[in-house]
Amino acid sequence: MGKVCVCGSVNMDVFGYVERLPAPGETLRGSRLVYAPGGKGANQAVAAARLGADVRFFGALGEDRFGETLAASLADDGIDLGALRRHDDATGVALILVADDGENQIVVLAGANDRVKAPAPDPDAAVWLTQAEVPVAAVEGTLAAARETGATALVNPSPAGRLPADLVRRFDVAIVNETELEGLGLDLPPTVVLTLGAAGARILPDGPTLPALPAQVVDTTGAGDSLAGGLAAGLAEGLPLAEALRLGLGAASLCVERLGCQPAMPTRAEVDARLACAATADG
Ligand code: RIB
Repeated sequence: MGKVCVCGSVNMDVFGYVERLPAPGETLRGSRLVYAPGGKGANQAVAAARLGADVRFFGALGEDRFGETLAASLADDGIDLGALRRHDDATGVALILVADDGENQIVVLAGANDRVKAPAPDPDAAVWLTQAEVPVAAVEGTLAAARETGATALVNPSPAGRLPADLVRRFDVAIVNETELEGLGLDLPPTVVLTLGAAGARILPDGPTLPALPAQVVDTTGAGDSLAGGLAAGLAEGLPLAEALRLGLGAASLCVERLGCQPAMPTRAEVDARLACAATADG
């Protein structure tokens, strides 16, 4: 099995739980406050690692308590942190409100994530994966690192609108939601995985639509990250694209049933059990 190299953000997620999301200018009372490891890059790295991938993470933390906590948490998942840098800066923080219906609202304070540089190539990489919470130069560098050794280059251009469409199109696979797809226009990368929330995901230009697995949704934060990490892990172990996507959809169906991002990422045994259960129900 080849390695999954992830270049991306790592944040301390500060969650507040509310009955509904506030309107602009409105003050609401929430039910509780939770600190949990997050950041799109780190979430995707953890998702892939829990599914059995050998993962190396390229990112940046501040020299502060959040940085220590987040590094320890990634190490607990067995992720190679040899390329994780520490800077005299604040560690990234995301302020996240989650409503009773599972919807969320997020403000990211990037801090040290803005200092992430282009990663060095890795001869053992099967797959490189990046997102839009690090500088464009780091995303360009991820693509260059993948090209250097012939690895497959995946991009999840989320949050929308931060990466030039021309850059996203040069990746082998883009994992996008409908808003991010619109931002690409008509000229698409060779393969697009279009995520459709509760409706599953479609492979473009001419692949199948795979249904989402049934889930009791409590928090959709991190669902896209679990899908992207699962897809990367599946491709790195040599699964065909649709099978790798099925692994990602299985991971996402478990992720949305739990609170938080990294704490919500399921293990391979959990995902295999869910996929087997769905196959039995279908058959
Ligand atoms: O995709 C969810 C992630 O977005 C959160 O973990 C938060 O840190 C933001 O980056």
